[in-house]
Amino acid sequence: MASISIRSVSKSFGLYPVLQGLNLEIADGEFVSFLGPSGCGKSTLLFCISGLEDLTAGTIHLGDRDLAHIPPRDRNIALVFQDYALYPHMRVRENIAFPLQQQGLAADVIRQQVAWAAELLGLEALLDRSPAELSGGQRQRVAVGRAIVRNPAALLMDEPLSNLDAGLRVRMRTEIKRLQKELGLTVIFVTHDQEEAMVMSDRIAVMNAGVLQQFADPMTVYREPANQFVAGFIGSPQMNFLPGSMAGGGLNEASVLGVRPHDLVPARDASSDVLVMRGRLTLIEPAGPVAFLDVTLPDGSLIKATCADPRAYRPGEDLLLAVVRGNVSVFDAATGVRTGALAPGS
Ligand SMILES: Nc1ncnc2c1ncn2[C@@H]1O[C@H](COP(=O)(O)OP(=O)(O)OP(=O)(O)O)[C@@H](O)[C@H]1O
Ligand SMILES: [Mg+2]
Repeated sequence: MASISIRSVSKSFGLYPVLQGLNLEIADGEFVSFLGPSGCGKSTLLFCISGLEDLTAGTIHLGDRDLAHIPPRDRNIALVFQDYALYPHMRVRENIAFPLQQQGLAADVIRQQVAWAAELLGLEALLDRSPAELSGGQRQRVAVGRAIVRNPAALLMDEPLSNLDAGLRVRMRTEIKRLQKELGLTVIFVTHDQEEAMVMSDRIAVMNAGVLQQFADPMTVYREPANQFVAGFIGSPQMNFLPGSMAGGGLNEASVLGVRPHDLVPARDASSDVLVMRGRLTLIEPAGPVAFLDVTLPDGSLIKATCADPRAYRPGEDLLLAVVRGNVSVFDAATGVRTGALAPGS
């Protein structure tokens, strides 16, 4: 693993500037997303780091090595592209083993490494299939397996989830984040999906037109956006912008007010009748307006809860969760049919 230092990096195609004086210090073991609208330069920056594109100006260091003089294949940086690019004529086993074979490693070392990656990603039962015999999510896991199998110094992913359906996308982003934490990987994840960036990242680099707008943790980007572009780009539905005069107190049209829809709520009474459960917090996924909490119950099962502000919580702590009984559906176990909601407190 290694840190990545991007210093005063600019890139032009002909006279057209695509990246303009970017500075980013990415820590060892950090999960960073590049987030911004289509065409803002996310992929170009990724290609510059991996060596598929040259810089016009500036430097990129991996740990303390200046990458300028290191050819792409010697950088030990793994890339996962949007379309996975698996070899269709090879089985899953050979796809994952491919980078190790290229390095000329011994057969038993390769076998061990492939078994390790397959176990980590739940691919053991699929090793003898061809890519055509896999679902999109399984293919994506094979692509990740092939990327991590050689212990890369950094893992770069360019919109790897964009081909998946919404449900699978949510599952895969949790899996990738868990894997990254388990292995202590330095990951750069390119996306134009702000929710995806928020739930997965330690820090988000928000870009627009080749210029870095803000580089901060998800909650800071959400609560303290550096400018109106970031404020409008992060958060769904989008932030309301209002004339400053609406605030009174001497403000006028020289100011713009930003109000998040989630913060603009009708007043209502707190509800009372709740079902309570206790569990251990295992993972926090900040999503801006709320955060999702993965909580393990005493019987080992995992449930997802939400909270307003995750900064008060730490993974590993015990949590009490409550749900309004009337919001708990009741199903017939034999038929799966919903029979109603939980009755008020008993
Ligand atoms: N080889 C190239 N020659 C000329 N211009 C290019 C080249 N590659 C990219 N560009 C331009 O550079 C800009 C940034 O492209 P890039 O692919 O980095 O955007 P992106 O942020 O990854 O967008 P998307 O979200 O659509 O993938 C775009 O305006 C694009 O047209
Ligand atoms: Mg791109």
